[in-house]
Amino acid sequence: MAAEEKVIVIDFGGQYNQLVARRVRECNVYCEIYSYRTPIDQIKEMNPKGIILTGGPNSCYEEGAPTYTKELFELGIPVLGLCYGAQLMMHVLGGKVEKAPVREYGKTETFIDGSKEALFAGVEDKTIVWMSHFDYISKVAPGFEIIAHTADCPVAAAACEDKKLYAIQFHPEVLHTAKGKEILHNFVRGICETAGTWRMDSFVENTIKEIREKVGDGKVLLALSGGVDSSVLAALLAKAIGKQLTCVFVDHGLLRKNEGDEVEGVFGPNGNFDINFIRVNAAERYYAKLKGVEEPERKRKIIGEEFIRVFEEEAKKIGTVDFLAQGTIYPDVVESGLGGESVVIKSHHNVGGLPDYVDFKEIIEPLRSLFKDEVRKAGLELGLPEYLVFRQPFPGPGLGIRIIGEVSAEKVRIVQDADYIYRTELAQAHKEGIITKLPDQYFAALSNMRSVGVMGDERTYDYAVVLRAVETIDFMTAESSEIPFEVLQKVMSRIINEVKGVNRVMYDLTSKPPGTVELE
Ligand code: XMP
Repeated sequence: MAAEEKVIVIDFGGQYNQLVARRVRECNVYCEIYSYRTPIDQIKEMNPKGIILTGGPNSCYEEGAPTYTKELFELGIPVLGLCYGAQLMMHVLGGKVEKAPVREYGKTETFIDGSKEALFAGVEDKTIVWMSHFDYISKVAPGFEIIAHTADCPVAAAACEDKKLYAIQFHPEVLHTAKGKEILHNFVRGICETAGTWRMDSFVENTIKEIREKVGDGKVLLALSGGVDSSVLAALLAKAIGKQLTCVFVDHGLLRKNEGDEVEGVFGPNGNFDINFIRVNAAERYYAKLKGVEEPERKRKIIGEEFIRVFEEEAKKIGTVDFLAQGTIYPDVVESGLGGESVVIKSHHNVGGLPDYVDFKEIIEPLRSLFKDEVRKAGLELGLPEYLVFRQPFPGPGLGIRIIGEVSAEKVRIVQDADYIYRTELAQAHKEGIITKLPDQYFAALSNMRSVGVMGDERTYDYAVVLRAVETIDFMTAESSEIPFEVLQKVMSRIINEVKGVNRVMYDLTSKPPGTVELE
């Protein structure tokens, strides 16, 4: 996506790298992340309005530590170094970095010593910042002056105003830094002299134009799952090329209650867009394949393979297409090690296989530059309903991994109905203010346990439903949510009364690790 002005983030392996880029975009300036291994010529070619160096886990004075050529600071482009990036700037330009006598971690009182005209405009003399470092700058590089300090850190920030080089030891990108957003805004908009024209409406408008130019009168095929990314992509393509787009929506019978109809309602013939929409009701096929299969990995595999098969059959009917559209978003790009420096933590759940099975000339990924919250904004901009845009994460293998053990139509019905009640009651409790914030993900799963119960005067031997709700930022780690007991009790009683085949409801207290978010 070509934007006229951008700030780039050079990634030294810091854990907040994506956050830095997001904060820049919140200043309405487009931002991309590049590894510190990116050659200087490539950086020059991009002609960024500013450069930000991230934190990182290394010591810059150690042999083999990530570094960057001095030339970066001589381009006449403003540079802001954060934490490791600040230390590296000093190290490369002739200052001194060494192990700090006192390691600073957490919220730290910081005193501003320098000018309040540039980086620290609007910041009080005494402010709270987030520190996390074991090395410190003991001597600034020639031409720099100290512009902030803390009790344990003589150089909390340094500046060479003439060259617009700034080094700050703390992390302005995290919310614990009281004036972090202002400091980044001062750099991005003030010091880098950007106009701030990056907006979702212009993204949508420009991308529609780009898609039209690229696609011409070609045909585009999209596998629509009904999740946020593929739905926003479908809407974007629909606006850009209308009937040249064919969306294939495979309903594998493992979706949440009503979900298939909701997707069809929006994208189908009576929906909001004028496209070709094919819904494949493949539930019976999936249930047949899953019959007797209990092992979680086998289930995932079968569901994945069956998807490819169904999609392939549909694609064959359509014939050769020019483009296959994929809903890749920026975190996918960065996490798969292509954008920045982060280690590949997870392989991509949803990617895999598809391109090999479809006859197409080129892949297009129009959302590739967006963060999730930006994808959502684009979705709203495109007129998608809120329930679709703010949908919770839902696993590709769907309810298949929320049903422990063998999958059957009967079990799917139980878990769908229980989940629907749970979601409805949480939404209600939220509306009434009993819950102030909804959990980041919550759903009902079906354990494979059947136990004895009593209903009326009858003995029952039925299933136990497990309720799950988690608080998490990145889904890599998670805590079980503290749902008020009265809400849980209401959910329990409705499930027992309304969902046939259930006589017990349990709440999962396990965090991740050792658990996972899903039950299988
Ligand atoms: P786990 O269970 O791995 O879940 O702690 C972390 C997040 O990923 C989602 N998840 C999946 N998403 N395909 C997906 O698209 C999958 O196979 C899959 N498994 C887990 C899960 O819902 C949670 O948000």
